[in-house]
Amino acid sequence: MKAPFDPSQAYLKLLKAALSNALYQPATEAPFSGDELKRAHQVLKRVRSRFAREIREIKSGARPVTPALVALLTEFAGQDVARFLRINAPGAHTLLTPDALDNIQACARQVIFFDIPGDFMECGVWRGGACILMRGLQLALGAGHRQVWVADSFQGLPAPDPQKHLLDAVIHEYLKDTGNFCVNLDQVRDNFRRYDLLDEGVRFLSGWFHDTLPRFDGQLALLRLDGDWYESTLTALECLYDKVSLGGYIIIDDYHPVVGAYAAVNEFRARRQITDPLTQVNHQLHFWRKLD
Ligand SMILES: C[S@@+](CC[C@H](N)C(=O)[O-])C[C@H]1O[C@@H](n2cnc3c(N)ncnc32)[C@H](O)[C@@H]1O
Repeated sequence: MKAPFDPSQAYLKLLKAALSNALYQPATEAPFSGDELKRAHQVLKRVRSRFAREIREIKSGARPVTPALVALLTEFAGQDVARFLRINAPGAHTLLTPDALDNIQACARQVIFFDIPGDFMECGVWRGGACILMRGLQLALGAGHRQVWVADSFQGLPAPDPQKHLLDAVIHEYLKDTGNFCVNLDQVRDNFRRYDLLDEGVRFLSGWFHDTLPRFDGQLALLRLDGDWYESTLTALECLYDKVSLGGYIIIDDYHPVVGAYAAVNEFRARRQITDPLTQVNHQLHFWRKLD
């Protein structure tokens, strides 16, 4: 028998579909056009010339490497780059896949249901879609008194230092022409307005994480990190982990060896002796519940 119609579930389902543009775009991805592949080859050439010395060192065995670095610098082909360049999908207000949006909903439901105190925050918001969903969830689930903190430079990803974080610097170079996720604060506010979700419960932390996050003195029940790089992720964990309530969630969007966030999370968890199990949602997204 069909479940009875639940207006708040129906609203949230529609909200997620609208945020990811799933309502309007075809479910299967179109093949790459000739122009896209041509552009991808130009980018590949640029990246290989910028990191020519590092590639020589990798090939001669003079540099310690990870499989991700070898793949990005020596094995990537036009199709891989074309996939990268499609990242700023026009129309969608979030890069998150349906399982990632469902994961925010599941964590939000748990903390609201079990009364875990604190606000919700995302560090690294792009067009704001995940935060818009967070506010929609708070209101739909009767927790509108909580706040959503929206933390971003609103100038895109910072340029990593290749001497310290070569992996992140290489990805940054690949993404250069896409604007490196640059979306300004007015555009993000406007996106909230389109869903009628810009209210006093939405707070913006505008600037680089190392400037804004140390000043945050609230409490969090849900912390979502989507700043990609090693430095961005480590800064967020160092500034905010102790603000997460027991029973709250830490969601890491980029827990995959191909980006620096992976090493930052592993290092932080080891240093702080965090043994709360990491749960995998998809090939990159992981989260843990703070129990210790
Ligand atoms: C992959 S996008 C986030 C995607 C977004 N969560 C969504 O729902 O589509 C990464 C974002 O992190 C931000 N970012 C990364 N490092 C940062 C830093 N150190 N300070 C401020 N913003 C940063 C970038 O500006 C960018 O908007």
